[in-house]
Amino acid sequence: MFGNRFFWGSATSAYQVEGGNIWSDWYEWEKMVDLESCGRAVDHYNLFRQDFALAYKLNQNAHRLSLEWARLEPSPGFFNQEAIDHYHQVFSELRRLKIKIFLTLNHFTLPAWLARQGGWENYKILDFFGRYLQLVIKEYGQYIDCWLTINEPMILATEAYLFGHWPPQVKSSPRFMKVLQNMAKVHNFIYDYIHKHYPIAQVGLPHNYFSFVPLRSNSFLDQKAVKRADDFWNRLVLNLTQDKHDFLAVNYYFHQRVSFGFNWRRDWIKFADPKKLHKEVSALGWEVYPEGLEQILLNLNQEYKLPIYVTENGLAAQNDEQQKRFIINSTQAVKRARLAGVQVLGYFYWSLLDNFEWDKGFKPKFGLVEVNRNTMERYLRPAAKEYAAICQERI
Ligand code: BGC
Repeated sequence: MFGNRFFWGSATSAYQVEGGNIWSDWYEWEKMVDLESCGRAVDHYNLFRQDFALAYKLNQNAHRLSLEWARLEPSPGFFNQEAIDHYHQVFSELRRLKIKIFLTLNHFTLPAWLARQGGWENYKILDFFGRYLQLVIKEYGQYIDCWLTINEPMILATEAYLFGHWPPQVKSSPRFMKVLQNMAKVHNFIYDYIHKHYPIAQVGLPHNYFSFVPLRSNSFLDQKAVKRADDFWNRLVLNLTQDKHDFLAVNYYFHQRVSFGFNWRRDWIKFADPKKLHKEVSALGWEVYPEGLEQILLNLNQEYKLPIYVTENGLAAQNDEQQKRFIINSTQAVKRARLAGVQVLGYFYWSLLDNFEWDKGFKPKFGLVEVNRNTMERYLRPAAKEYAAICQERI
């Protein structure tokens, strides 16, 4: 079913796995709040060879990862040679293993010096990002098979500037909108800049797509709420970035049953609690609904006619059995979409390793590979083997 050109992989992000990212805004913030801190994470910074060897052994032919900007540029305009050399080793190792490289330029964190100057709200963000991007292209452009610009602008902008859960914990609609617009501007700039250097480069934006259904299928108000939710969560970023996509990069986690809700901050939208509806949920209480991925792929294909990569899909598993079933059902959803004519070119499981799940710390386990954080030993979960067999189909 999947040909040789299909990319099977897994995804990580630098801050969540590397450890020791002491120049990042999240690191600063963790010192001020009463939450589990990232610390050494899962020491991927030192153990990347071992981790990539596992991905290779699990038949993965592509890997999605990100650079930690703050590590490369710990103070404004100063680039750290040790970090530059480190990522050369990282990319060389993936190359040596013939694993294709999907690089995310920014995955939620910023250098602390930039956050102190307003971060995504700073009108000079384009200049700052441009300087960083110049370095990335000069140093690493040759290695990259596929470019991913900014991870999930909607999630970052809502969590950090609308709901106030993430640094800098702002709750303001105008500031949220400003940040989202700046992120879109930076994406559009990156898209053009990379194409100037590599005209045939593949560039996309990893966006968190929700699958929505009305809570009561016959309710006019609930249908309206679905439309509003879709406009806001699924379409806003795409509208701001219009034709700057060579492919669509789909991150999928959320299936929501939507009704009209009395909360202006949530745009009059209410998401039902799947537990109360007796639906199957993950360890984080998110509904497990792999069929939603198929629906999203079909809808996007109809509307945009662009190739698609599933750049993230996974769950904080309650147990091994649930994770295994999730992987089988999710990859089958992708297969059905392909059979229906959707041009899906790759699938990346989130995540290769257990890692730092932002404000939720290390408790949620998303990894194909379990990590003992005392010894940093790695153990393959049963689902890793299941997924390896699925990846094998192409070989
Ligand atoms: C993010 C990851 C995160 C995952 C699971 C995605 O939205 O890109 O950083 O760990 O969801 O919550």
